[in-house]
Amino acid sequence: MKTINIVNGPQNVSSIIQGCMRMPGLSKEDAAKVIRTGYDCGINFFDHATCYGENGAAESKFAEAFPLTGLKREDIYIQSKCGLCFDRNEFDWSKENILASVDDSLRRLNIEYLDTLLLHRPDVIYDPEEVAEAFDILEKAGKVRFFGVSNLVPMQIELLKKYVRQPLVINQVQLSLEQSQLIDQALYMNNKQTEFSVNRDGHALDYCRLNDITIQAWSPLQFGMFGGSFIDNPDFPELNKALAEIGERENASKAAVAIAWILRHPAKMQAIIGTMNPAHVEDICKASEVKLSHHDWYALYLASGKYLP
Ligand SMILES: NC(=O)c1ccc[n+]([C@@H]2O[C@H](COP(=O)([O-])OP(=O)(O)OC[C@H]3O[C@@H](n4cnc5c(N)ncnc54)[C@H](OP(=O)(O)O)[C@@H]3O)[C@@H](O)[C@H]2O)c1
Repeated sequence: MKTINIVNGPQNVSSIIQGCMRMPGLSKEDAAKVIRTGYDCGINFFDHATCYGENGAAESKFAEAFPLTGLKREDIYIQSKCGLCFDRNEFDWSKENILASVDDSLRRLNIEYLDTLLLHRPDVIYDPEEVAEAFDILEKAGKVRFFGVSNLVPMQIELLKKYVRQPLVINQVQLSLEQSQLIDQALYMNNKQTEFSVNRDGHALDYCRLNDITIQAWSPLQFGMFGGSFIDNPDFPELNKALAEIGERENASKAAVAIAWILRHPAKMQAIIGTMNPAHVEDICKASEVKLSHHDWYALYLASGKYLP
């Protein structure tokens, strides 16, 4: 498994992260298998959020399962996110909510600190001074080691940076071969003939690279917002053909090649996988060994329905 060092953040983290959003439906035994299989394949980073499952069910399930894995807290990095409050139909970055959310996550996960805390989605009426106060309190209390954001455009990060004292080391955003708008806008720049040129994120990719913010790519196998996986999906014949061809050459599954496409990007991103099937975890982790040439990267991109302008 490839590892990366997050600048100003945790070191030697796996380039593949196990996302836990789909964990609430599992038994604790099955959840333990997912965690342990990933760990044995080199995954040492686990992504949570207060809103994954009713009343933080993903975090609770993870905590129930963890003792069955034989792992110690220090063996892994645990990340959670707060601020997205489905139960109240709002996004909330108030100091009160950030502090309460972290306490809830720590209690549910049965741990004393989060390695990283991300603000999940922008609360557009937040007060940045409150976020700064909350981060200081959490850092001083040893409850959170590093901080970051998710789904934020560069100017929102700039605003936060004006107030918070800790470096923002991660931006977690959507990216897959089928949802590649993070990359498309640069390629089709200023092209009136196509929607691909629309700048939807204020150049988040270049901004994050310029500012040493690690991008974590969520839903790396999904099409649409949560349309389902494009792997083996008959609606994506060209893409599956290209993934299969490279997979055969590299002795890897199509899913592993799709993840390798993200890891091949020089921005040194992490890919957050969501499968709850240990066999899928095992074969996706081979992504780390897949060697994609410059040409392969473009061939996959084009097979996903784009063209060179
Ligand atoms: N920051 C945000 O706003 C945000 C939003 C969404 C998600 N996330 C994070 O990103 C993580 C991943 O999201 P995701 O679950 O949508 O990611 P994903 O890895 O793109 O999709 C996983 C889904 O694809 C299915 N799948 C079908 N064929 C597969 C194959 N061959 N190999 C692997 N999976 C296959 C899986 O089913 P099986 O389980 O049957 O394999 C699972 O239902 C989440 O757990 C969460 O941590 C963050």
